Formats: sequence, C-alpha cells, structure tokens
Amino acid sequence: MQEKWYKEGVVYQIYPRSFKDSNSDGIGDVSGIIEKIPYLKEIGIDILWVSPIYKSPMVDNGYDISDYYDINPEFGTLEDVKKLIKELHKADIKLVMDLVINHTSSEHEWFKRSIKKDGKYKDYYHWEDKPINWTGFFGQKAWTYNEDRKQYYLHLFAKEQPDLNYENKYVREDVKKIMRFWLDLGVDGFRCDVINLIAKNNKYPKGKFSPILVGKEYYLNQPKLHDYLKEFNEDVFSKYDMFTVGETVFIDTETAKLLTNPKRKELNMIFQFDHMTSDCHYVKWFMKKFKPFNLKKPLSKWQNELNGVGWNTLYLENHDQPRSINRFGSLKYWYESATMLATMLYFQQGTPFIYQGQEIGMTNASFTNLDDYKDLETHNIYKLGRKFLFSHKRMMKKIMNMSRDNGRTPMQWDNTTNGGFSEGEPWIKLNPNYIDINVKKQINDESSVLSYYKKIIKLRKEYRTIIYGNYIDIDFMNKKIYSYKRYDDNYELIIICNFIDKSYKFDITKYKEYKLLLTNYKDNYDGFLKPYEARVYINKYK
Ligand code: NOJ
Repeated sequence: MQEKWYKEGVVYQIYPRSFKDSNSDGIGDVSGIIEKIPYLKEIGIDILWVSPIYKSPMVDNGYDISDYYDINPEFGTLEDVKKLIKELHKADIKLVMDLVINHTSSEHEWFKRSIKKDGKYKDYYHWEDKPINWTGFFGQKAWTYNEDRKQYYLHLFAKEQPDLNYENKYVREDVKKIMRFWLDLGVDGFRCDVINLIAKNNKYPKGKFSPILVGKEYYLNQPKLHDYLKEFNEDVFSKYDMFTVGETVFIDTETAKLLTNPKRKELNMIFQFDHMTSDCHYVKWFMKKFKPFNLKKPLSKWQNELNGVGWNTLYLENHDQPRSINRFGSLKYWYESATMLATMLYFQQGTPFIYQGQEIGMTNASFTNLDDYKDLETHNIYKLGRKFLFSHKRMMKKIMNMSRDNGRTPMQWDNTTNGGFSEGEPWIKLNPNYIDINVKKQINDESSVLSYYKKIIKLRKEYRTIIYGNYIDIDFMNKKIYSYKRYDDNYELIIICNFIDKSYKFDITKYKEYKLLLTNYKDNYDGFLKPYEARVYINKYK
C-alpha cells in the first residue's frame, strides 16, 4: 500500500452546507463543489475531505445519518457524488468522506428496529433498564428513556444520535459493508468521526464525579477500540489504496502512537486536540486568555513524540472550531497573523489540513443575536449556562468567541450579494466582512493571504524536508516566539514566528549564511521581528 500520497498531500476540508450553492436554495451542494474544483486545483490541493452529505434529519448538520447509502437531497444525488469522484480524480485530487459510525440518527432503520427488539437489531445500540449518570459532549445527559422499548439508550451526543454497540458483531459487519460501498465507488479514504468513542465498557459502571463528561473513563479510549480498528483494517482498509484519519477526542500521545503506528495496522493518522485548549480550560466553553506558549507546548510535544512512530495532522481550524485568527492571532494584524499562523503550522511534520476559508483569512462572525446561531451545541450550551444562572451577556460572550457557527458561515467567494455563495437566502448569515475578505479579491493579488498559502503548499512539494524532516525546537522557553528547525541530510530549515503584536528583539546573525525562503513582511531587519512576523530560512548541506 502506498503511504506517500497522504503524507505528502495537502488536504482541504469542505463543510458542504456552506461551501457553494449551485441551485439557489441557500444550502451548499455537491454540484457546487464540482464547480469549484478548478479553484482547489489552483491552490494546490491534493485531497478533499467532505463533511457528511449522507441522508440525515440534520439535527447535527449531517453528523446524524439515517441512510449511509444515499445522499441528502439538499446536497444532491448519488449520481452527483459519482460525478464528483470522477471530476476530482481527473484533476488528480483524492476524495475523503466523513465516516460517522459511533452513532446513527435515531431515524435510522437500525434504531427503529432496535426499539422493537427486532431480531439481530435488538442489541445494535446500548440499552439499559436504569439510567446511568454519564454525560455527553453537548452538555447533556447521555442516557435517555425510550417510551416504546421502555428502556434507556446511550447517546454521547444529541438524543437523536444513539450510539452503536460495537460488541455486536453484526454492527461491525454492517459498518464494514458501508465502508466497502464507498470505497468501491472510488472514494480514497475516511475521516472517522469521534472514532476513539466507539468502544464502551458494556457493564456501564457509574461514572466518577467530573464537571464535564461524567463516565468518560468508560467510553473514551477503551481497550477494545484497538481490536475493532484492527478488524476494520484487516477486513477493509488494507484491501484498498486509501487512508484513514481518526478524530480522537481527549487523546494522549501514548494512545496516539498505538493508533497510528503503521506496524499495528489501525489508523493512518489522527486529529488530536491538545493545542485546541491553548485558550480554554479542558473544553472550549471554559475560556482563558490565549498564551502562545500554550499552543507551542503541545504542538512541539506532538512533533517530538510522533516522529518516526506515527504521523501528525496539522490543523488549526475545522467545522467545530472558531476561526484561528480570532483565537491565536489578531484582527488588527489580520494579514500578518493569518500568514504567521500558516507558517508556524504547515512547516511542521505531518499532513496539512486547511479548512475552507482559512486560506483567505476568514474570521469569526460573532453574531450578537442568539437566533442567528443554527448549531444545536451552541443552543444546548446556552440553555445549560442559563440553568446554572450565568447571565445572557456572559453566555453570549462565550458563544460569540467559541460557537462552531463561527467556522460555518458561508464561504466568501466575492463581494456580490451573499458573497457569491448562493443566489438564494443562505441557511446561515454571512460574515459581513465578505466585502473585504473574499477569494476574488485575493486570487490574483500576490500579497494576499491566499497567495501566501499557495506559496507554502508549493514549498511543501519542493522540499521533502518540510514533509519528512526531523523537528527540533529552538529557544523553547521563549514565550513570544515560536521557532524550530526542520532538517534532513539535504537541508536545514529555520522557522521563526513572532506571536505578539509588537516588534521583538531577535538576533538572526546565526542564520547569516542561510537564504530567506519565505516571509510575510516586505522588509526584514536583522535586529528585530515585526508584529506577527514569520520567516523561514533555508540552508543546503554540501
Ligand atoms: C464530531 C464532529 O466533528 C461534530 O461536528 C459532531 O457534532 C460530532 N462529532 C458528533 O458526530
């Protein structure tokens, strides 16, 4: 099996609802994606990850699937997806589908039959006579009573997303069937949603007290997870030229090594979340002031620990996260911080993931009106906060900073009505800054964020050192600068990023011999770095 393409490629994530609407219903669709293939090609994308487009009641925007073999009509048809695969492959771009298999929709046939205790479906989900004290990821109780079956079922997300029971081998067989169906259709891999939750302790013990996620010791990273993944790998993954990236919440580097060590044949890479807590305590709703060191420390740890054992994913944004400029950069130094963050991240070892709009520096919409938010997690958290007597103002502050909808506003293509996203009324409001921040404005501008992203992507293709080279921190304890070295037998690269909005004294005489490969400022000075300045130096060994 070729492992090179998914290590060397650059992935672009599309949140289909918000990418491009081709039929003016206000919702992005598959034909819209097809329309934009030339754009993806132009920026140098190799792999496309599309968030769920399967049939779904859309309680959680498609992460609640009611039919894994069909497409939700608002996104198009199966024929459209076949066309998408064909057109992408023609353009030499691979397609990765989101695979949501920890849970289904409560509208899925399996759940309906499970309620009726119908044959093999009786134990397709987790059922108990008494509720367990576990809590889930949307701030909710994780066991809900079902009137018809007269039992409680487990759902780590919304009550409309019941968790599948992987102890049941028929569940695993059915899931493999789904995987094969898509792979046979030509899909090149899966992003496996919350995959480290699929194994549960089926004795369902009472969870230890915890302010969040009660019971997680019985549903996170359980030993059987590895057995299930090995089984999927042996029976399915290993039979195709494909790759898997697992979304793994609350994961440490030791477990990650087990999951991604190629010798163990489980997953190819995972998304970890340590660096996503650099501006919050444990989960995003407990916000704290961002400190660059809190971003650098975990990123550096993951670089060091996975080197030669596993493989990292490099991401700062996705459909569950607010925009990175707001979190880790500065609106005042919008261009500088957008490009600095890209430099800091994409020169590391791992596969780069770019989330739609990140490449043009999209920012949080921070709607001030609660009704403008469509995301159920946002509304759940609001209700929960109010129940605990947090004021409306305080909850709105959290939401404006951290709601997932900040990353889900429509893609800003141009400055015409609805930013060129749709000719109809968009399902969610646009960020009004589409007038200034849009693809059309940046695509032919050499000094735009988009052009900078293109340069980075090109450099990754030119220098294998950026992909495979070793990683060493430089001046690790520095709280304002993130600098590191990448090296192999051919090259040495020095990456220096200023994380503050002020000039910073920085002596680069050490690198006098090196060539400046990339920078986000026109004039660079030997004695200091400007606000959010980024530089990449390169030295060729003889
Ligand atoms: C993680 C997904 O990224 C998120 O959007 C979703 O709400 C949950 N998993 C549940 O599927």
